[in-house]
Amino acid sequence: MEKESKLGVFSYLDGWEPSGILTMNEDNTQVLSSAFSYGSKYLDRINAIEIDPVSLSLNDKAGIKHKALNPFGGMTYFGGIRDAAPDSWGRRVIESKLKAPPDSLNESVYLIHAGSNRVGSLDIRSSINDKPREGEVNWANLEYLMEAAARIDEGLPIPASLEVVYANGSALGGGRPKASIRDELGVQYLAKFSGVKDPYSIPDIEMATMRLASICGLTVPAVRVVQLGTKRVMMIRRFDRYFSKGQQSLNMTEMLTSMPGTGYMEKRLPFVSGLTMLNCHESDSPKKSYSDLASAIKKHCHTSVIKDDQRELYGRMIYNILVSNDDDHLRNHGFVLDPNIKGWRLSPLYDVMPRPSLAYDRNLHLSIGDHGRMATINNALTSHVLFDLSLEAAEEIVDRIYKHVREWKVYFESFGVQEKDIKLIDSAFRKMDDIRKNEYKTKTKHGLKY
Ligand SMILES: Nc1ncnc2c1ncn2[C@@H]1O[C@H](COP(=O)(O)OP(=O)(O)OP(=O)(O)O)[C@@H](O)[C@H]1O
Ligand SMILES: [Mg+2]
Repeated sequence: MEKESKLGVFSYLDGWEPSGILTMNEDNTQVLSSAFSYGSKYLDRINAIEIDPVSLSLNDKAGIKHKALNPFGGMTYFGGIRDAAPDSWGRRVIESKLKAPPDSLNESVYLIHAGSNRVGSLDIRSSINDKPREGEVNWANLEYLMEAAARIDEGLPIPASLEVVYANGSALGGGRPKASIRDELGVQYLAKFSGVKDPYSIPDIEMATMRLASICGLTVPAVRVVQLGTKRVMMIRRFDRYFSKGQQSLNMTEMLTSMPGTGYMEKRLPFVSGLTMLNCHESDSPKKSYSDLASAIKKHCHTSVIKDDQRELYGRMIYNILVSNDDDHLRNHGFVLDPNIKGWRLSPLYDVMPRPSLAYDRNLHLSIGDHGRMATINNALTSHVLFDLSLEAAEEIVDRIYKHVREWKVYFESFGVQEKDIKLIDSAFRKMDDIRKNEYKTKTKHGLKY
């Protein structure tokens, strides 16, 4: 049945501010159309932030005043708003709370039930007069959260004693059980739980893979694993939250290591996914490429970071090839609006997991070069021009990253990963001889020899 909803959209500037009204037309679970009007008071603010850089840009504030805007390119849903909605895990939590069957609710219902601590700096409420719902979940509740998450994972009802999971369990996206929690010092982490059916300790492997990426020179938030009873939990620091005093401006590394203290306020960084930057639907993600993301960096990111972000993205592509992370879909790439440069930039790295495989020929989710999604270094070296990198610069990135990845076992042991888990994921890590063949040397589309 068709239904129209009018929802209040809020942005966290120095506190919550109403940004505008979102109108959604839906037919059961389908979003038929959306429109958004920025509030004029919001547009008058010098620190107003755009909800979506593609469809709701603030480049022409005067031109969009009192106008109902629609998603760009015939899309029915704004990417920036979709990024603030829950994914499959958060939807299970909301369905458990509302006692509804899987995927049965309107998108607008999922949108308003995700709470006010979602990724980035947006909140969506049932009306512009609604108050935020900031369910706080702290360290002491982690064990209850995990128990509740396991029950939801198994489709079991949640007893009142475990309802803490509803406070923050659906605030962040993704498919695995997780919650946003605050540690004893007051810093927020995304806690990713182990599942009953995991073949090895996914929290340990994810932590070690992220730390290794950091050693390879990629930008990675702090990660650690905690043991709770018999369960392991991976904690990754939230890169969309940081602490600063007054108008103090911090660079990305300082934001990622900032701590609460007297006079310090917790701030929120706006976030959009790669899907939003490429203005495409989830189902089109496998048709996209790393070079499409490199073009989006050029088009939407601040000029001061374009070169570094393209280099970082190329490095992430190489790392994903080397560790066989084929879950590199466009929602696993993100961008944040950096107040220091007043522009968009690549977010720190997240959600990288090696996938063990017996296959010699492997693909990533996104295309890499002239040979499509084929996960080889030869293929990656065909596309360096599209990242504005010389062949030498691209080769240097490969060498820098492989120098560490080839030693992965030593690193993983030093991070405390168990021997049996190392054995189980061994086949995910590629040997250079298998993915870089001199006989494949060809002329590339771009006329450069490799
Ligand atoms: N460190 C972080 N800080 C802030 N937001 C994060 C962080 N890590 C992930 N996110 C956000 O939370 C979402 C879910 O996290 P993540 O991708 O790690 O979960 P997942 O369940 O493994 O996902 P998938 O379904 O892709 O396997 C991401 O898409 C991103 O929007
Ligand atoms: Mg993910």
